[in-house]
Amino acid sequence: MQEVDELVREYRHSCAWFLGPFYNIVRLFHPDYIKPLFLASETDSLCVCVCVCITGQGLVLSNGRQWSRQRRLLTPAFHFDILKNYVHIFNQSVNIMHEKWRRLLAEGKDELDMFEHVTLMTLDSLLKCTFSYDSQCQEKSSEYITSIFELSDLVVERQRFVPYHWDWVYKRTAEGQRFYTACKIVHDFTAAIVQERRSQLLKNGPPENSTENSTARGKKKTVDFIDVLLLSKNRVAALSSERHDTTASALSWVFYNLATHQEDQERCRSEINDLLNGRETEEVTEDLSNLPFTTMCIKESLRLHPPVTTVTRYYSQDMSVPGGCTIPQGNICLISIYGTHHNPEIWPNPEVFDPMRFDPENSKQRSSYAFVPFSAGPRNCIGQSFALAELRVVLALTLRRFRILPGSRRPKRLYKLIMRTEDGLPLKLEPLTVFQ
Ligand code: HEM
Repeated sequence: MQEVDELVREYRHSCAWFLGPFYNIVRLFHPDYIKPLFLASETDSLCVCVCVCITGQGLVLSNGRQWSRQRRLLTPAFHFDILKNYVHIFNQSVNIMHEKWRRLLAEGKDELDMFEHVTLMTLDSLLKCTFSYDSQCQEKSSEYITSIFELSDLVVERQRFVPYHWDWVYKRTAEGQRFYTACKIVHDFTAAIVQERRSQLLKNGPPENSTENSTARGKKKTVDFIDVLLLSKNRVAALSSERHDTTASALSWVFYNLATHQEDQERCRSEINDLLNGRETEEVTEDLSNLPFTTMCIKESLRLHPPVTTVTRYYSQDMSVPGGCTIPQGNICLISIYGTHHNPEIWPNPEVFDPMRFDPENSKQRSSYAFVPFSAGPRNCIGQSFALAELRVVLALTLRRFRILPGSRRPKRLYKLIMRTEDGLPLKLEPLTVFQ
């Protein structure tokens, strides 16, 4: 990432590598240059070819017609009315995490690895939202959960070591064996859930679409992703559970940025308390869009530490970019989200955390392609509203109940498919008294 910072300072909009006569990679990091690429339809998401085994033919990796069919299938699962149902689940999962924190604090452990805790919490809520499956992963481990984590690490190792890109080599290595075994565990698990839910649906008919009917409160259950997909009377596309990772990264970095900027943290806390004080329950509902400064802090954190740093595209026709340049068909393009977010031409002092950049007054002149944590265009993140709602719920409840302070050492950023840290993200916590 430091290298990208240097490239952006020197080249300002794009640069290219020529690896021999046939293999060229173009890297772009300016809103005007990434815009036509995001908007193009003649594209295949190259992403991580090695990932295909994990997701079957999941959306992130598929191409052309296959992609547009799967995207159409998934879209209803992210409809606003469906997302509303998940807010209760976010509350439940964050409550479990906070209970754990209180226990650890009582045992005298005041510094925690935020990545570890938040990753388990987002996985917990994603499994409840997608499969209505209570994995209890925040409390205990299981073969399925271990396999999901193992796959993330193995994919990065495979991506980094070029000989492993060939299946016939990889299959013969110890890592390859572990990879395929973990894939089988994850596939068998999801296949069993889908099978079970299909027969339930045939027997009992569709569940009602209402928060009041959520699993925890009554006999009936919330409509989850699998219901929506099964009800669309189509084959269920593989929906990756890997997506909890991006939200976990986003949350961990928001916590870090607010820990290192106490004034901003205090301002968020008083905004949150103003909204929640006087309520009968501690449950946060979907009215969280009334937190303008908190939302600005989330955005600034997504700018400074975008969970997905780059998206990769392969264009099946020539692409024109400003300055009369053309990227010839067949080139690999790295659309650098990190580079665009750190481009000093767009963001003065890009390394500084300053939520006021997202004040509506200060955003007026900026291109909408200057801030693209969820990508843009037809292949943008389908889970954007889901992720933002979860970020707001978790942040609101956490800041209401805890003060977050910097840990004993500064984290070092590390790219591992998503923006992580080299050795955890230690932060200190101080419990607060909540006034109703
Ligand atoms: C802060 C959290 C998240 C960030 C920053 C993020 C970011 C992204 C980005 C940059 C892409 C585009 C990849 C590309 O163009 O190659 C993407 C795609 C996608 N995201 Fe997210 N994501 C987040 C959370 C989620 C969640 C929670 C879900 C599901 C519940 C999700 C589901 C997807 C799917 C299915 C795609 C593929 C869309 C397509 O190819 O049409 N994302 N995400």
